Amino acid sequence: MKILLVDDEPRLARLLGDTLSEEGHDLVLRHSGSEAVEVLEKERFDLLLTDLKMPPPDGLALLKIVKERYPRTEVIVMTAFATVAAAVQAMKDGAFDFLNKPIELDELRIRVRKVGSKLEDRSERERLAVENESLRKTLGGAPGFEGLIGQAPTFQKALALAERVAQTDATVLLRGESGTGKDVVARSIHVASGRSRGPFVKVNCGAIPEQLLESELFGHKKGAFTGAIADRPGRFSLAHGGTIFLDEIGDIAGALQVKILQVLEEKSFVPVGGTETLQSDCRIVTATNRNLEEAIAKKEFREDLFYRLNVFPIHLPPLRERAGDLPLLLDFFLKQFGSDISRVAPEVRRRLLGYSYPGNIREMQNLIERIVITAGPDPIGAEHIPELKERGGAGGSYDFEIPPGGLVLEDLEKDLILKAIARSQGNKSQAARLLGLTRRTLYSRLERYGLAPAGEGDEGVEE
Ligand SMILES: Nc1ncnc2c1ncn2[C@@H]1O[C@H](COP(=O)(O)OP(=O)(O)O)[C@@H](O)[C@H]1O
Ligand SMILES: [Mg+2]
Repeated sequence: MKILLVDDEPRLARLLGDTLSEEGHDLVLRHSGSEAVEVLEKERFDLLLTDLKMPPPDGLALLKIVKERYPRTEVIVMTAFATVAAAVQAMKDGAFDFLNKPIELDELRIRVRKVGSKLEDRSERERLAVENESLRKTLGGAPGFEGLIGQAPTFQKALALAERVAQTDATVLLRGESGTGKDVVARSIHVASGRSRGPFVKVNCGAIPEQLLESELFGHKKGAFTGAIADRPGRFSLAHGGTIFLDEIGDIAGALQVKILQVLEEKSFVPVGGTETLQSDCRIVTATNRNLEEAIAKKEFREDLFYRLNVFPIHLPPLRERAGDLPLLLDFFLKQFGSDISRVAPEVRRRLLGYSYPGNIREMQNLIERIVITAGPDPIGAEHIPELKERGGAGGSYDFEIPPGGLVLEDLEKDLILKAIARSQGNKSQAARLLGLTRRTLYSRLERYGLAPAGEGDEGVEE
């Protein structure tokens, strides 16, 4: 860090300055408030370490000036025991910390390191915010698809297909686990299509009992069954001119599968208890999280219906295959619920990004909503997240493809290590954390690859 140290006692200033220089900081010493103001006008500092009692402006006045003009500079005030009230005032005025005189050098090192980690967290958050912003700009998204977040190649491939098929009247089958976005994509296809002015009618085929589903889909005539006191149009009729979305189509029972097949082939159907054939001009989008091939093998799903539905399949990837999209989604949902990444403690962020989300995007969305509500106006800390199982290890899965020509694993490892170090701006402990390594292991790899001067890392504390 770049540190400005102000104390009217030159000998003490030099001693403290030397101690901090040995820690690797870049020190500038001044002996009065006015000299400090002068140098602050010219240079930016990460930390101002100032005495309270000194030629004016005194420490408190200097603190106010710094907080007003250079809010990014942290301040630690040093004070003799007699002026502890002033120290309290300094904390109120925005000082990061205070130190009692006489100053213990170890204490000084510890407090200054704390400032260091605060700045590290801050720069990490700012870097992420910038990264997310630029990603969002490249997202763009075709009309109708704007709200869909994701850069992972597997997801982008699905989106590109959906955008293309939206322009046609083809029947679409959306496949993917629960919570992967089938509903939103179905809606987006409708909005992006030429039928966007028409109705979008959704039927959850899995949730409606079999006997009711037929009349729900195709309508019924008065007296068709007990309780049918009047003619009632079905969802296919209601969707005329628009799109019908048959969700959980894999759950439809055998007899109804035949009727659905007929609609697909002829766009015509007969209401329950009726005799005349009705037509509906609607585009059909279907979705399922079932493995239909397995259902066919078990004779639970008709093969001919499957081939009709599977004309244009779109597979929505599970979130664990889109690990790279987690920061984007995290940011997106925090904003959606009125919070912001800047309010999330780095530890919490790491854990949210390390979790596997078996319930996919829906689970992440629900989790973040709950966290934001529980935290209320407070910053989001570790106490607000329930136990999350870490991804990583054997369960880890990264969106990464081996190039056609193959690769050399050691080169990849070397490359990843260098990237982690660059990303943590040279902070090796942070880099080790990013890679799931201990600091010592990271150092030994660095040595193996000839990336570290021998002996580096022998001293220092293992975290
Ligand atoms: N790519 C995405 N970007 C942002 N939000 C999404 C995305 N995909 C899904 N969601 C949100 O996640 C939740 C679950 O999506 P949904 O379409 O209902 O999943 P499915 O129908 O596959 O179970 C919804 O609230 C939806 O808005
Ligand atoms: Mg759904």
